[in-house]
Amino acid sequence: MSEHLTQTRRRRTFAIISHPDAGKTTLTEKLLLFGGAIQMAGSVKGRKAARHATSDWMALEKERGISVTSSVMQFPYEGRIVNLLDTPGHADFGEDTYRVLTAVDSALMVIDVAKGVEERTIKLMEVCRLRDTPIMTFINKLDREGKEPIELLDEVERVLGIQCAPITWPIGMGQRLKGVVHLVSGEVHLYEQGRNFTRQDSTIFASLDDPGLAARIGGQMLADLRDELELVQGASHPFDKQAYLDGRQTPVFFGSAVNNFGVQPLLDFFVEHAPSPQPRATTRREIAPEEETFSGFVFKIQANMDPQHRDRVAFLRVCSGKYEAGMKAFHVRSGKEVKLANALTFMASDREIVETAYPGDVIGLHNHGTISIGDTFTAGESLGFTGIPNFAPELFRRARLRDPLKLKQLQKGLAQLSEEGATQFFRPLMSNDLILGAVGVLQFDVVAYRLKDEYGVDASFEPVSVATARWVKGGTPKKLEEFREKNAMNLAVDAAGQLVYLAPSRVNLQLTQERWPDFEFAATREHA
Ligand code: G4P
Repeated sequence: MSEHLTQTRRRRTFAIISHPDAGKTTLTEKLLLFGGAIQMAGSVKGRKAARHATSDWMALEKERGISVTSSVMQFPYEGRIVNLLDTPGHADFGEDTYRVLTAVDSALMVIDVAKGVEERTIKLMEVCRLRDTPIMTFINKLDREGKEPIELLDEVERVLGIQCAPITWPIGMGQRLKGVVHLVSGEVHLYEQGRNFTRQDSTIFASLDDPGLAARIGGQMLADLRDELELVQGASHPFDKQAYLDGRQTPVFFGSAVNNFGVQPLLDFFVEHAPSPQPRATTRREIAPEEETFSGFVFKIQANMDPQHRDRVAFLRVCSGKYEAGMKAFHVRSGKEVKLANALTFMASDREIVETAYPGDVIGLHNHGTISIGDTFTAGESLGFTGIPNFAPELFRRARLRDPLKLKQLQKGLAQLSEEGATQFFRPLMSNDLILGAVGVLQFDVVAYRLKDEYGVDASFEPVSVATARWVKGGTPKKLEEFREKNAMNLAVDAAGQLVYLAPSRVNLQLTQERWPDFEFAATREHA
């Protein structure tokens, strides 16, 4: 196998999806621990705060105790290179998270054993569905009392519409937690409270028949467990790798992240079965990761990591070929060849300069405003990766200036912030309003803060009667003209100049859709 192929096949690029507080940060920490990326399971949160302390506007983030930005962590495990793309945790902060999910090959869903499937998990799952992203599930906090495991699997199947294939199964729960059985290997991993298990000191029995096991958990419990397992195997699905890869089935693991219990079976299974970098659709053709010429796309832009330089970093996922420091690449949107020097890599928690990167890896490019979300870089071919969406915002505000003379700065600021994906903005056809759209309400605070801090503009946002937005596509030019005329009051263009229908209510949207069947009213817009 060529070096390129070997490097590509060993990559695993994924993100964790969960409702806040389910244990994503804790699990991340333990995964890094297994990867040897951190010596002791120190606090990922603490590191994040320290790393961002230099950045001005992120004071807001600190103030609110949330992570507005996401980062990338790379670590080796069992001969594989794992890229974990962190997603912002706060419930309010959606779009960034959604786009991170376009840059991964699989996802890990964390569910709190007591709370079950929560609202944000449902939303994130919908996003994974758009690309049939394969998903593994970790049911966390087994050291506490929660719902019955069988009930949880049922809930996942019912609410999220995905088949469950339990890979590990809990022996007890809460105070009675004894361990987990690995349904594929047959191994039994015992739990010892208060110990931070690592690979070396976890207590593993080869099977349920191991004579030492009854002595450890008691004959009665073992007999009950056998009965339960029979029931479980009858009522659930066996692991089907193709169904997992197609996004139809999720392998399920049980454990306790904070106790580092049940994490290792998850990680072992993950690196073995999770997909390596997958082919990606473009406007022209599908690009396979095996191709040796370079290509990649930008899925995230993070502003002002270094306030001294007003710098922004564009996060690029490598899709094919190899990045080498100092190489030239073709920036498709501008039609220019640019030198990619000094890209950042994200080994563990330290940012450092990378020499090479392979498909599945993420590199950080310094950007002075010329790179936008969705941009494609190639070795010269003129094509664009598709599927990096703008989501229809659910919250809308009209921007109001305290000082009307600052209109130019306001427009410039909003244009740049929307280019970065911090907000979306719309200009109605019939007025001079500037309407902002967001997926979460915190986005408005961030935008207001940054407008002031970075553009010297004092703006406030006031309610506006828009309930939802849809990108209008299709129809003949004649029909489109008629549509524009009849609906001018509710039409706007977005920052990229695309036509958007701003519906004052859901009912209005529905009626309009019925009245104009020639048009598609899309809830997402792909970056051009
Ligand atoms: P998030 O990133 O998904 O928001 O969750 P995070 O890891 O921050 O975990 C949320 C809370 O749940 C934390 O408690 C964490 O310690 C706890 N937790 C995580 N895994 C487990 C587990 O396996 N069992 C139990 N019992 N708790 C768990 P906290 O009190 O909010 O913060 P902290 O002060 O403990 O860090």
